[in-house]
Amino acid sequence: MSDRRIALVTGASSGIGEEFARALADRGNDLVLVARNEEKLRELATELQTQHGATSEVLAADLETDDGIARVEARLGDEAEPVDLLVNNAAFGTNGNFHELPIDNEVAEVQLNVVALMRLTRAALGPMVKRNRGGVINVSSIGGYQPTPFMATYSATKAFVNSFSNAVHEELKDTEVKMMVLAPGYTHTNFHERAQVEKGGMPGFLWQTPDEVVQTALKSYDKGRAVCIPGAINKSAAMFSSSMPAGLMRRVAGMVTKRQ
Ligand SMILES: NC(=O)c1ccc[n+]([C@@H]2O[C@H](COP(=O)([O-])OP(=O)(O)OC[C@H]3O[C@@H](n4cnc5c(N)ncnc54)[C@H](OP(=O)(O)O)[C@@H]3O)[C@@H](O)[C@H]2O)c1
Repeated sequence: MSDRRIALVTGASSGIGEEFARALADRGNDLVLVARNEEKLRELATELQTQHGATSEVLAADLETDDGIARVEARLGDEAEPVDLLVNNAAFGTNGNFHELPIDNEVAEVQLNVVALMRLTRAALGPMVKRNRGGVINVSSIGGYQPTPFMATYSATKAFVNSFSNAVHEELKDTEVKMMVLAPGYTHTNFHERAQVEKGGMPGFLWQTPDEVVQTALKSYDKGRAVCIPGAINKSAAMFSSSMPAGLMRRVAGMVTKRQ
């Protein structure tokens, strides 16, 4: 068995997850790449081999399904090839009046953003705590810091990720196993296209690149932080949301989402 560490990244076919895979390969990790688009994952695996000498397993799985989640859980439980870092990054958002949105898609959003993330965290942490080594990064959003009208389900799933990850971080404090929640703000990826949100409504200075988000995240992870909010504006926005009266915050969040 190679002494290179293995990182498993969900949602590695695009955006922040793809950049996590590149940055982790650059740091000397081998990868398990998870998403639905197998062709995209294979192209990335070739790039990581050529550019960084990293070996990648391609695990095409739909994490909105029980079968897809179970196959990734099985990989995380394989003690012969232990996974040292799990990045729970795959998620999507929906946009619109909740009472008009197709309910099956809202349920799929909860299944991916919450249920898959929770199940994969459990599957990873069992063996990690036994080895007293490893860690999990759960990708949330600054959208999880306040109820967000027109993205009600999405912001609620991210509020779950924030609360859950912070609590588990504390449970692990007497171990060497890390748990960090990453809460990015507006980031240039395919996220907005899938959520059918107009990107043009928000000013350029609010946006970060996936590379900026991932580099900040990995520095915070190295330091054992519980929470990473990349970018000064996003940090201030999260603090503002946490301290404002709930009614005012709801109205402000609704105005911002409507601008998109
Ligand atoms: N972009 C932003 O402004 C922003 C802001 C805050 C937080 N975030 C968070 O950042 C994370 C990454 O999003 P992104 O911005 O990089 O978006 P993205 O470019 O749309 O990437 C999403 C990734 O998730 C994967 N995915 C989607 N549905 C899946 C499923 N059913 N099963 C398995 N994989 C699935 C996609 O791959 P396939 O389609 O190939 O399955 C893709 O690789 C998410 O947790 C998102 O909530 C993004």
